[in-house]
Amino acid sequence: VEQSYIMIKPDGVQRGLCSKDLAQEHYKDLKDKPFFPTLINYITSGPVVCMAWEGVGVVASARKLIGATNPLQAEPGTIRGDLAVQTGRNVVHGSDSPDNGKREIALWFKEGELCEWESVQTPWLIE
Ligand code: GTP
Ligand code: MG
Repeated sequence: VEQSYIMIKPDGVQRGLCSKDLAQEHYKDLKDKPFFPTLINYITSGPVVCMAWEGVGVVASARKLIGATNPLQAEPGTIRGDLAVQTGRNVVHGSDSPDNGKREIALWFKEGELCEWESVQTPWLIE
């Protein structure tokens, strides 16, 4: 089987390849907030890694794992609590509701880009 090593080179990281339109649509609920322009600049300042997670209670459990919006209030052991310092640089995003999960996945992925996969362990995890 072929292998390919893919690397985003320094110019790719620096050039802000996530479009402003997509970022504005993604965070449209916050468009009237004073920090909206800085949020859009932040989120379009370099490439992001997109993931679509699926599972029982995944919205709430992912948010728990991510921690509070302000990293100074995020618990130790959460991603923001361990790795971030400021709200405006809080490392990771997670949808805040199942409806927004669907909406955001549809925004960031084209049909056919998502892969459905079930582990043989699933029946031992989920009754
Ligand atoms: P996301 O998972 O990114 O949606 O964060 P959240 O759901 O914990 O917070 P919210 O949706 O309210 O805000 C979205 C993002 O806007 C936050 O993650 C921050 O990056 C940014 N943000 C929110 N409040 C502030 C603020 O007061 N100042 C600044 N600079 N950024 C903020
Ligand atoms: Mg949010």
